[in-house]
Amino acid sequence: MTLPPLTPLQETLWVTLTGRAFDSRQPRPILGDEMAEEIVRTSGYDNPELHWTQSSSVDVAHRAKKLDEVAQRFIARHPDAVGIDLGAGLDTRAFRIDAPPTVDWYDVDFPEVVTARQRLIPDRPHAHTIGADLTDPGWLAALPADRPAVIVADGVLPFLADDEIIALLKRLTRHFPSGEIAFNVYTKFTVWAATHYPGARFLAPLFKSRGFDRRDPERWDPKLTLVRHILLTREPEVAKYPPALRLWTRMAALSTPLSRLGTTIAQYRF
Ligand SMILES: C[S@@+](CC[C@H](N)C(=O)[O-])C[C@H]1O[C@@H](n2cnc3c(N)ncnc32)[C@H](O)[C@@H]1O
Repeated sequence: MTLPPLTPLQETLWVTLTGRAFDSRQPRPILGDEMAEEIVRTSGYDNPELHWTQSSSVDVAHRAKKLDEVAQRFIARHPDAVGIDLGAGLDTRAFRIDAPPTVDWYDVDFPEVVTARQRLIPDRPHAHTIGADLTDPGWLAALPADRPAVIVADGVLPFLADDEIIALLKRLTRHFPSGEIAFNVYTKFTVWAATHYPGARFLAPLFKSRGFDRRDPERWDPKLTLVRHILLTREPEVAKYPPALRLWTRMAALSTPLSRLGTTIAQYRF
């Protein structure tokens, strides 16, 4: 399979994709995304530097599951919704959530990534791709502006500078009449930890955000209201974590500040 050359920033899509593929091979997967495994196999991608273990893949799979649930719940309430995955990479969320045909789903990423998607991922009715830089104000013009929207971003925001995140959020909340936005929060601690954790150090030079708090988006854009802050430590999927990580996570769950140091998902309404 020949794919377009990707920049180091675009190549981060393999990190999350191979993490979900690894999870799908576990006896008790958290997400169970077999399409991720299929895409990795078809692409021929093989990077020995990505040493997934069950413990490290859990986080990627778990946060994807939570974002899927946010989208599914919104779509159940708004069958005419527009769904958007910002910086979708090679994620197949539209397949996982299996939205009804009344929903239009848009996967947005750089044009090279969209070309790779088109070679690796089968078409799906009402699923569209948009090849654009998220910081470009023009791409939203192609989307309907009269329907409620559910917007997710999985592992994407640290690659945007804080003023780019603010501008993006404002464009989204002004384009659609109403909706929800959810993403995993990259706090100052998360960004610091990624810079110092040997397995993730290659990501650090690509980070443009300095990290932000779950409450910051409300201050950046008064249209946004935080409706839920999901602490992964307290979610039922922890029961499927491997034993040592499960024990540590159960202990961390007793403390809100400790839980907030781990992966969290912030969900906003507008
Ligand atoms: C870590 S990957 C996550 C991909 C996908 N969300 C997933 O969970 O597999 C980050 C993605 O964000 C995309 N991205 C980063 N900055 C972007 C920008 N300014 N415009 C469009 N896409 C961007 C990258 O191309 C990459 O696909």
